[in-house]
Amino acid sequence: MNSRISPQISIPLGELTLRLSSTPRGARLARRLTVQQLDAWGHPHDTEVSENAQHVVAELAANAVTHGRVQGRDFGLRLLLLPEGVLRVEVSDERADRGLRIVPGSEEAEGGRGLVLVAVLARTWGVTERETGKTVWAELPLS
Ligand SMILES: Nc1ncnc2c1ncn2[C@@H]1O[C@H](COP(=O)(O)OP(=O)(O)OP(=O)(O)O)[C@@H](O)[C@H]1O
Ligand SMILES: [Mg+2]
Repeated sequence: MNSRISPQISIPLGELTLRLSSTPRGARLARRLTVQQLDAWGHPHDTEVSENAQHVVAELAANAVTHGRVQGRDFGLRLLLLPEGVLRVEVSDERADRGLRIVPGSEEAEGGRGLVLVAVLARTWGVTERETGKTVWAELPLS
C-alpha cells in the first residue's frame, strides 16, 4: 500500500465553481464574479492581485467563448485559493480540438495578445485536455 502523500496536492482554502453561458455576456460575468470572490477573500477590486486576476479571467473567458465555444454549451470558471499563496484560475470549454496547440503570440498582428498577457501575469499556465474539451489554467501569486 502506498501511504505517501504527494506534495503536489494542496487543499484549497476557498473555491468558486461556475458554469456560464458561452457569450460575451457570460465572459463579462466571469470577470465580475471574480472581482466579488476575490473581495470576499480579502483582495479588494483595486488591488494588484484582483486586477491581475481580472485580466487573466477576462482573457481566458474571452477565448473560451470565441475559440472554444460549442453551440449550446456553457463554459466553466473555477477559482481556487491555494494555501501556498496562489490563486489558481481554471477556464474550461467544450471544444475538443484534436492536437490543439495554444501558443501565445501565435496569431497575426490583430490578435494573439491575450495569452501573452496571461503568461506575463501568471506564475505558470497551461492546457489540460478533458474528456470533452479542455481546461486552460493559470496560477497567480497572491502577494
Ligand atoms: N479556449 C481556446 N480554444 C481553442 N483555441 C484557443 C483557445 N484559447 C486560445 N486559443 C488559440 O490560441 C490563439 C492565441 O490566443 P490569444 O488569446 O493569445 O489570442 P486571440 O484570442 O487570437 O487574440 P486576442 O486575445 O489578442 O484578442 C488563439 O488565436 C486561438 O487560436
Ligand atoms: Mg484571446
